[in-house]
Amino acid sequence: MKTDPDPGPPPVGGRPADHLVTIERFLIDHQPASATGSLSRLLNDIALAGKLIASRTRRAGLTELLGKAGVTNVQGEDQKLMDVYADDAMTAVLSGQGRVAAIVSEEQPAPLVIDEAAPYIVVHDPLDGSSNIDSNVSVGTIFGIYRREDVSRPLSDADWLRPGRDLVAAGYVLYGTSTMLVYSAGAGVHAFTLDPEVGEFLLTWSDLRFPDDPVYYSLNLASAPRWETGMGRFVEWLNRPDTPNLTQRYIGSAVADFHRNLLHGGVFGYPGEVSRPEGKLRLLYEGAPLAYLAEQAGGRASDGIRDLLAIEPTGIHQRTPVFVGDRRLVDRLEICLAEV
Ligand code: AHG
Ligand code: MN
Ligand code: MN
Repeated sequence: MKTDPDPGPPPVGGRPADHLVTIERFLIDHQPASATGSLSRLLNDIALAGKLIASRTRRAGLTELLGKAGVTNVQGEDQKLMDVYADDAMTAVLSGQGRVAAIVSEEQPAPLVIDEAAPYIVVHDPLDGSSNIDSNVSVGTIFGIYRREDVSRPLSDADWLRPGRDLVAAGYVLYGTSTMLVYSAGAGVHAFTLDPEVGEFLLTWSDLRFPDDPVYYSLNLASAPRWETGMGRFVEWLNRPDTPNLTQRYIGSAVADFHRNLLHGGVFGYPGEVSRPEGKLRLLYEGAPLAYLAEQAGGRASDGIRDLLAIEPTGIHQRTPVFVGDRRLVDRLEICLAEV
């Protein structure tokens, strides 16, 4: 029987590394000539937290870490033990270096003030998708970094209630079949894989771009009956025979869904629902960092109506619908939602 030749994996829009370079070296080599190196060191601190969290998640099935910590976080969600560990790891590496003024974490009810005189604010979800951890599914840490406008002014809401457009860097660490750190500091998106034997993040892809032809859309279609009608129009469009050759993939772990779509082309969405128009994901430390990365990779993000990076937060745990990935698919989604 004649079979079609294997088309191979879809293209990755980025340059594969052609030499060995650690993230530490790469950050130093790629910082602007005028930079003090403080942001590079901060990103390196986050890489260290990523290594700590990776080593713990690797053992999650073997230890008492499985299960719930028995406390409820500010969002009313059960905190898994790994969430607590990941949050502590982030706080530990970001404290005491004179770089971070305050940390906004999904797991903390209020911003944690570290050093009033320091230049950066870090927002993060220490472990996203943690409900997946006991089924051995990929999880991730999402982070964003803001530079304070005036370090001499006392810290206030104005330091962290800022639109994603103000981010100076953002990224994630994906704890999957391997551990990968993906970041942008405003000059492209770069990806590093952790060599667990050596303990270093090594450059894997530089200048990642969404491929021209998207392959995936990632939506939890089980929630479709609760979405507003515009979403139905979008799903219908995605499945039309004359539209791009898309297929549906949904892990339910935003970092993993976003990462696959970044490499192979596609869009991830978590829409609002009629009775919950704000959706599930948080603007400051889930939506905005992914939106920043998407834009740096030639894509974009929206809440369905406006550019996600333009939204001014009014609360640190504010939720928003999120659509992020391939630019043309996000544009199309907005058109479908706007139709009456
Ligand atoms: P959490 O931050 O509570 O771990 O939630 C994970 C998020 C995100 O990673 C994922 O895309 C989404 O929740 C999945 O939610 P559904 O199961 O409702 O699709
Ligand atoms: Mn989380
Ligand atoms: Mn989360």
